[in-house]
Amino acid sequence: MRRELEAVIDELKRLKSAGARTALVSAGSVRRLREALVAGGHLVSGLEKPRAGAAPASRPAAEKLPDLPSDKPRAPAKKKASSPKLPEGIAPLPAEPPVVALPEGDKATRWAALRDQVVNCPVCNAHVRSGCRVVFGVGNIDAELFFVGEAPGAEEEKKGEPFVGPAGELLTRIIGAMGLSREQVYIGNIMNWRPETAAMSGNRPPTAEEMAFCLPYLRAQIEIVRPKILIALGGTAITGLLGPDPNRRIGKVRGTWSEFAGIPLMMTYHPSYVLRYASNRVKRTVWEDMLQVMERAGYEISEKQRGFFKVKS
Ligand code: URA
Repeated sequence: MRRELEAVIDELKRLKSAGARTALVSAGSVRRLREALVAGGHLVSGLEKPRAGAAPASRPAAEKLPDLPSDKPRAPAKKKASSPKLPEGIAPLPAEPPVVALPEGDKATRWAALRDQVVNCPVCNAHVRSGCRVVFGVGNIDAELFFVGEAPGAEEEKKGEPFVGPAGELLTRIIGAMGLSREQVYIGNIMNWRPETAAMSGNRPPTAEEMAFCLPYLRAQIEIVRPKILIALGGTAITGLLGPDPNRRIGKVRGTWSEFAGIPLMMTYHPSYVLRYASNRVKRTVWEDMLQVMERAGYEISEKQRGFFKVKS
């Protein structure tokens, strides 16, 4: 049971790092989880074990199916932005971020030199799992749209290319629905390596220090490509670009514009969040953000495109 619970907790942490604020759970799953917790002595008949003297909860919180991320105003967070800590045994990062030195020359020359610097970066390589690779951005160096993700996952670090796993397949389909191909846009990540975990399996969100270390590499790619629009995919990408803000909520900022390096920045959910929920409502939410991107980029939008994932009321 403990292992299953840990798996659930790991999954919830992963979702949170991908920007999720709520998780949809079927009534049946809630019932099974509650039964297991009661059997393990963690809950008393579906209610949290009462602390001595504590008033009983009016209803079991687990019974209420959470709603999708809402734009409802929340009470301002009191806590300071907390950053995940590095698991034990992982080499700390240098205090100073890397200095990017690029040669004079055209875009292609500067991009190739940057790529060379990043894939040979000793700090990045020291954090890459054995048999895996540092991951640098891919795509068109003249792209108008530049998608920014979080960090490579298992498939990406093996291939040395961003967004080639399941989330990448969905991103490729989103780009296709916009009337573009992967080769026409640019895709990069906040992180150039897959953040290590103590068990060296699974994913964890990057720490603030890790993001700060890699940011000069992403900034340099953005400055070389100079896209019309940046698209931050998920909460970590937003934090990586804009810095931490304890009051920022992905459900609130998605679909709105910010700016990075003087370039308009659209904030939206991460594709893995869409994969997780797989509802038309979530797909439509991300699609509406993409429609805004297309409008701002001056692309023609067909009626068919406007209607994608429209939720019937
Ligand atoms: N998720 C990301 O944020 N980036 C990748 O490259 C793959 C998955």
